[in-house]
Amino acid sequence: MRPSVVFTTEGGTPYSQPYDYQRIGSDGPLLLQDVHLIESLAHFARERIPERVVHAKGAGAHGYFEVTNAEFAKNYTMMDVLSENGRRTPITMRFSTVGGESGSADSARDPRGFAIKFRTNKGIWDLVMNNTPVFFLRDPSKFPHFIHTQKRNPQTHLKDKDLFWDYLGSNPESLYQVMRLFSDLGTPYGVTHMDGWSGHAYRWVKEDGSWVYVKLYAETMQGIRNFTNAEATEMQGVNPDFSTQDLFESIENGTYPGWTMYAQVLTPEQAQTFKYNVLDLTKEWGFDDVPKTEIGKIYLTENPSNYFAEIEQAAFSPGRLVDGWALSADPVLQSRSFSYPDAHRYRLGVNYMQIPVNTPLCPVANFERDGFMNVQGNQGSRPNYLSTLSPIQLPKLPYVDDTHQQWTGGAVRSLSQVTEIDFDWPRRFLKSLSEQDRQNLISNIVGHLGAAKSETVRTRQVALFAHVDADFGAAIAKGVGVQVMPLSFPDGPTWLNTTIASNSSTLRY
Ligand code: HEM
Repeated sequence: MRPSVVFTTEGGTPYSQPYDYQRIGSDGPLLLQDVHLIESLAHFARERIPERVVHAKGAGAHGYFEVTNAEFAKNYTMMDVLSENGRRTPITMRFSTVGGESGSADSARDPRGFAIKFRTNKGIWDLVMNNTPVFFLRDPSKFPHFIHTQKRNPQTHLKDKDLFWDYLGSNPESLYQVMRLFSDLGTPYGVTHMDGWSGHAYRWVKEDGSWVYVKLYAETMQGIRNFTNAEATEMQGVNPDFSTQDLFESIENGTYPGWTMYAQVLTPEQAQTFKYNVLDLTKEWGFDDVPKTEIGKIYLTENPSNYFAEIEQAAFSPGRLVDGWALSADPVLQSRSFSYPDAHRYRLGVNYMQIPVNTPLCPVANFERDGFMNVQGNQGSRPNYLSTLSPIQLPKLPYVDDTHQQWTGGAVRSLSQVTEIDFDWPRRFLKSLSEQDRQNLISNIVGHLGAAKSETVRTRQVALFAHVDADFGAAIAKGVGVQVMPLSFPDGPTWLNTTIASNSSTLRY
């Protein structure tokens, strides 16, 4: 076969010897004038960019989102992307594990990232979800602490089960997410057999400025399938890239993975009297409590032609909003809207939105100019200030009345305080499990928690499990070799009060 491209230097000049280097004589030293060798070695040494500080290991693909229920969506939101049945919007999705480095095994026990970039006619909309409806925390200030304990011990550079459980046991609002994680849901069979949840309540906004709280949920069309702990552990050795390969090959073979997207809606008035704080990221709304309604379908139909360009450089942010989709006052969501673009500027550079995978399909016009790697014309000759000589159109957006978000009532107060209601979802979850799933949950916890050396750490975590359900706690206590200690509310044991006291002083909600 005749090659279709000619080998060149970085400057495009044809060059005949990729393996060549210039030297004095046949065995002498090399020459500084050998521009080809120097540029090739210099570029090689600069290939790595910082990996994502969390969610570093991932895989992704392109596809589309198709609207199936515009009638429903239009009742609540002015989002252009949802305005017409059959409308297809191009998307890029990235799936990931959270704690491991970019070379870590796909089948590790971990939540999975489920990030979608919608290239809508009216700008980029990112939906940065996980494969779980809740999270370990509801106070953003805890996030770096939490993540540090899921990564490596600063001295040994080993994953450390004592640090892992020390954090979780002393921050009991994590309990429901911990139980989901240690069920077999924590080791999904690849990424196509799992659901995605927005987790947070966002807001849908209409042209008249009225709004409702909304959560989105993507249900897999492939059916839920999980590894058992033993299977996941084996797969980590046999094929650490199992789900990356599974996703790539299924698309390559024309079996396009799909998800049905649903919405759950609560009006501000309903939210005020809802049984849980609607902004509490550690609690689900529950489909029995708030019914879900289909709004569209997602299909992944195209593999990236270059992983680094199209997936590694993809920059997703919960703050990348479009008209009709707004943040709520959930403090974790608010903090995320800062943290992701901050990470992108560090990881990809200030002009990361000019990298083709991140660039909107519609024109961009603003006053952000210059900076490193400004590669899309820098917005040409248009003035770089708000000019009266060459005015820029300023679109009229609806006035959104946010008064309701300034509640001081029960619904949004004291996110940190752990009370009896925090055991509600762990109990509901435990009751929903089959006998087999319950046994797997117990043995998965025992296998991991049992390896924590500190008896205090094990005892504390067991007290929490036993407060969910006495038999459940007793089985774990037996497995990890500790006594069940009582946990009572409102006072709780000393360690719990310490957690509460240290948080309440700085809380606004
Ligand atoms: C990735 C911060 C909570 C889902 C990231 C990244 C940061 C971050 C800095 C790396 C971004 C990058 O380098 O491109 C935080 C903070 C959180 C938080 C500060 C809480 C205070 C959450 C929650 C979810 C989530 C609650 C899901 C509901 C994701 C996903 C990614 C990610 C899916 C990977 C996105 C991708 O594929 O590029 N997070 N995160 N995070 N986070 Fe979070």
